[in-house]
Amino acid sequence: MSFVTTKQMLAAADEGAYAVGAFNVENMEMVMAVIAAAEEMNAPAILQTTPSTVKYAGLPLYYANVKAAAKRAKVPVALHLDHGNSFSLAMQALRIGYTSIMIDGSHESFEENIALTRRVVDACSASDIPVEAELGKVGGKEDDLDCNDPGYTEPDDAVKFVEETGISSLAVAIGTAHGIYKGEPKLDIERLSEIRKRVSIPLVLHGASGVPDEAVRECIRRGISKVNFATELRIAYSNGIKKFLTDNPDAFDPKKYGAVGMEYVTEVVKNKIEVCGSAGKA
Ligand code: 13P
Repeated sequence: MSFVTTKQMLAAADEGAYAVGAFNVENMEMVMAVIAAAEEMNAPAILQTTPSTVKYAGLPLYYANVKAAAKRAKVPVALHLDHGNSFSLAMQALRIGYTSIMIDGSHESFEENIALTRRVVDACSASDIPVEAELGKVGGKEDDLDCNDPGYTEPDDAVKFVEETGISSLAVAIGTAHGIYKGEPKLDIERLSEIRKRVSIPLVLHGASGVPDEAVRECIRRGISKVNFATELRIAYSNGIKKFLTDNPDAFDPKKYGAVGMEYVTEVVKNKIEVCGSAGKA
């Protein structure tokens, strides 16, 4: 099917009151596993890579992998740069062919975040590539970004940020965190509703691993159109491989244990697609 941008996907989700799952992938097996799940559920899929993932194998390898997988997929697939941490990385991803870019200036001052984001939006707009940015700080650790000092998104700031940057979607900080939660996350869903009332572009929820399904559904009801899942996929992939190698200590064929890692990831992704309400929306 098609290799598309996230623009149409998120507009349709916003309109249809569901969310598109955005899944972090680290290697070819995870790419295949996510797409297999999306095909089984007939759902659109966003595959995304963080800067540390990009450092592991390089943008061209992830691009070629996802592009080839998208070509033979029965559902629309987008490739998104997650937490782009510099103008330069965002431009490299744009040039290589990523179909969606996030620039994360949330650790800068409000003005610097606006200025950096605006530059990326200007550069991407000529190719009609949508840009996601973050306001407020999602807590926890994603990549080298270790945020011990999370900050909620202020609705007034969100209005100004969206107007001044021209972004296509906004990642909001409402109490989720990247990585594993120690207790149950406490989400400020009233804040989400307030932002939704005042900002019309699609909103993005980061740090969804470990957030109870019902809480994710409530965020979608209140206006989230893209939900990011990373840690639970990494755990599933590793658990599948560990299980196979524990049961088969003499195994040495990467295809054998890779297949089990993929099965585990596919199961998790199918469940997340169901939670997002995007099944049947391809
Ligand atoms: P989790 O690792 O908590 O799922 O967060 C994913 C994420 O938000 C990637 O940007």
